[in-house]
Amino acid sequence: MAKNKKKKKTMAQRADRHALYQESVQDSEFELDFVQNTYKAIHKRKPQTLREDFAGTARSACVWTKRSKNNKAWAVDFDEEVLEWGRKHNYDKLKPKQRERVEFIQADVRTVETPSVDVVLAFNFSYWILKQRKDLLAYFKSVHKSLNDDGIMFLDSFGGSEAHSTQVEKHKLDGFTYLWDQNKYNALTQEMQCYIHFRFPDKSRMDKAFSYTWRLWGGQETDDLLREAGFSNVRFFVQMFDDDSGEALDEFEETREVIDHECWIAYIVAEK
Ligand SMILES: C[S@@+](CC[C@H](N)C(=O)[O-])C[C@H]1O[C@@H](n2cnc3c(N)ncnc32)[C@H](O)[C@@H]1O
Repeated sequence: MAKNKKKKKTMAQRADRHALYQESVQDSEFELDFVQNTYKAIHKRKPQTLREDFAGTARSACVWTKRSKNNKAWAVDFDEEVLEWGRKHNYDKLKPKQRERVEFIQADVRTVETPSVDVVLAFNFSYWILKQRKDLLAYFKSVHKSLNDDGIMFLDSFGGSEAHSTQVEKHKLDGFTYLWDQNKYNALTQEMQCYIHFRFPDKSRMDKAFSYTWRLWGGQETDDLLREAGFSNVRFFVQMFDDDSGEALDEFEETREVIDHECWIAYIVAEK
């Protein structure tokens, strides 16, 4: 009689969804370079205090404290599970002195109270979870209040004809494939249901590792709301593409014009 063999776990079963997320969609180093350089270009000084809203694993907050002994960060998310992962995998890897300069806060970004900061980040389109105009406006107002007088909020946005449709984008990465699934789109309300899935070389899958129900806010609508919340200036820095290959470049240029693009992605820089 065959012995009872313990079934080997698949790659998907062994994988950690937060680690895969960080590898697939987050480049904190690049984002923080953009934040630092843009802030310095506007105010002729380096920002030091930063609040990461919708922080998830708080990766950017942790990287921020590593950049300078003068830097401090607050990471805000209402989900204890993801913050706990961030404590174990990002915070615990910092040096003791760096750890003293980063604080994790489990709270709603709309009501959280933190000391005034130079910079508030809300990246990876997380503010799109706020689908009602009044809710997004209230959030922007509360960020405005939390910023120093020369503070800046950094957000991101995407759009173009492909954004207003269902589609799946595949990206082959080191050891796995990341899929961005725009699964449902309501062309009337601009609400979208998106998922992140992962696939592995042994054919195993991690479906719906992350799920987002968003409103696809337009660039101009976001600009209007930020100004209504009190921001004095709002700028768009749009990602450039290589003219010949069509590949996205690591370059973002300030512009107000994106003519007839299938897909654009931009940083939004809102000055208090
Ligand atoms: C897409 S993840 C963003 C992670 C990371 N900041 C990034 O740039 O990739 C969105 C996070 O926002 C959190 N979140 C959603 N609504 C929130 C709210 N009202 N207050 C605090 N956190 C919220 C979720 O728990 C989730 O961890």
